[in-house]
Amino acid sequence: MIIANWKMNGSKDLIKDWITSVSENIKIQDEKECVFCPPVGYLNLSIELIKEKELGIKLGSQLIESNLSQPLTGGVSPEMLVDLGCEYAIIGHSEQRTYYNENDSQLINKIEAAIEENIKPIYCIGENSEQKKNGTKQEVLMKQLDLIKSSYLSHLVVAYEPIWAIGTGENAEVSHINETHAFIKEYIKTISNTANEIPVVYGGSVNLNNYKEIYSSELVNGLLIGGASLEPINFSIIYNQS
Ligand code: PGA
Repeated sequence: MIIANWKMNGSKDLIKDWITSVSENIKIQDEKECVFCPPVGYLNLSIELIKEKELGIKLGSQLIESNLSQPLTGGVSPEMLVDLGCEYAIIGHSEQRTYYNENDSQLINKIEAAIEENIKPIYCIGENSEQKKNGTKQEVLMKQLDLIKSSYLSHLVVAYEPIWAIGTGENAEVSHINETHAFIKEYIKTISNTANEIPVVYGGSVNLNNYKEIYSSELVNGLLIGGASLEPINFSIIYNQS
């Protein structure tokens, strides 16, 4: 699967131009999902345009509320996301863990609230540069993966995004990605006592120059693309040729 994470970028015009250009350039294949995650304020416009162009791409939200016990100011509930046509939600992105101080119990609530509404969580994990240097990557990932319950497995996609690779132009080496994806897949099998393999996508400075090498690995089940997804022709090429 190929996921476009627009982060806090865009405008009505840019969304219209992007969807128009993608609809002219992309060749959607049933077995390869394409997911567009615009800022939440543009979800409605995006789904209208996707429908109008009969474009087979799915919609994902960058936000989902974890506390559903009260009508929180600023909250976007899973029901609203379903109403807007969302099928996926990015949960646990390092930027939200850092800037919104998201903790494990909020992340569990988000994952469960999403699954309850049939929204597939794209659960992001990854180590920072300090943890990479001091050799604690696996401990960090294990802690982030420990909140996964076996009941989530058929709904969940894990996105491995090393924090040092996000938006830096410095993607992880394929050997690093392979070793880490293998570790994630095995660890999830162990903690949830299953033989089933969970899809693990890679994110962090994926672009037109490196997507082929990264996606050629059998252990990489998709790409989560930030900055490089803003350019519609490049994004379509990455989708078509990966
Ligand atoms: P990037 O972002 O491709 O710009 O590094 C990826 C992400 O944060 O999802």
